[in-house]
Amino acid sequence: DWTMGAYREEAIQKIRDQVGGAKVICGLSGGVDSSVAAVLIHEAIGDQLTCVFVDHGLLRQNEAEEVVAMFRDHYNIPLIHADESDLFLGALDGVSDPEVKRKTIGKLFIDVFQKHAAEVGGAEFLAQGTLYPDVIESVSFSGGPSVTIKSHHNVGGLPEKMGLKLVEPLRELFKDEVRALGHELGLPASFIGRHPFPGPGLAIRCPGEITREKLEILRKADAVYIDQIRRHGLYDEIWQAFVAILPVRTVGVMGDGRTYDFACALRAVTSVDGMTADYYPFSHDFLSETATRIINEVKGINRVTYDITSKPPGTIEWE
Ligand code: XMP
Repeated sequence: DWTMGAYREEAIQKIRDQVGGAKVICGLSGGVDSSVAAVLIHEAIGDQLTCVFVDHGLLRQNEAEEVVAMFRDHYNIPLIHADESDLFLGALDGVSDPEVKRKTIGKLFIDVFQKHAAEVGGAEFLAQGTLYPDVIESVSFSGGPSVTIKSHHNVGGLPEKMGLKLVEPLRELFKDEVRALGHELGLPASFIGRHPFPGPGLAIRCPGEITREKLEILRKADAVYIDQIRRHGLYDEIWQAFVAILPVRTVGVMGDGRTYDFACALRAVTSVDGMTADYYPFSHDFLSETATRIINEVKGINRVTYDITSKPPGTIEWE
């Protein structure tokens, strides 16, 4: 694609101009955005870049292993794998307000990056895969009062005292453009096609208080759901799909016994850029097969619902 080819060259030049000889750390989330940003910046400045992958304990099943393998082994980009799950889950203990969750996570991300910026020998820049929709959604509804929809952890709000300047080479791009750029940079198609995953991770798919028990149940249910979607050949038709575990237990029957377990909601949407979205029209066969599998295979869930809310008025995530 000639347009993306030109964009790539221009972006690389801009990064070099901005950064000079300084060191940069880049927060990797495992998602497409931060990965494309990292590969682009690595192409621009080589080993002046160190990636930091923060495992906040809110990742999906096998996610940490997959990301580390891809970056360290495949791309040979210097990578720090920071297991900070105790830190994050400790701070989130007892927190149920969505904005407090996001702010708590955002603040800890900054602390952890700052720590590692010092470790790599004084990084001056922090790179992020912020996209255009992140920028505008975090600012305001146009025309109205300045209402923040959600505080995206990777936009703004970086305390001055952090002492790191931002490098955000994707700030003008929409998701489909980031994917085209990833393709241009030679990232594997299977990786580029991955559904988006938010920085705050499973925290915002676990309304109410977050516990390790709920996260474990959520990871298992999500893995079964995504497996179902792949088996039915639907993964690429869907923009984003995930399970949210609800903060409510309901009564069920299993065999001769009564169960009292968590309910969950399946979410799947089609979208172009995440700004608006429609729920995906699964067949009833797919839904019932998936519900049966989740209830049989995931201990702790005895009820499955399907979220049929579009955006607006809903958001894609539950928090
Ligand atoms: P919502 O829920 O606002 O999500 O409709 C739109 C898209 O953005 C993702 N999302 C985030 N991504 N940090 C991120 O990197 C965040 O704080 C964040 N919040 C939402 C969400 O997964 C969806 O793709």
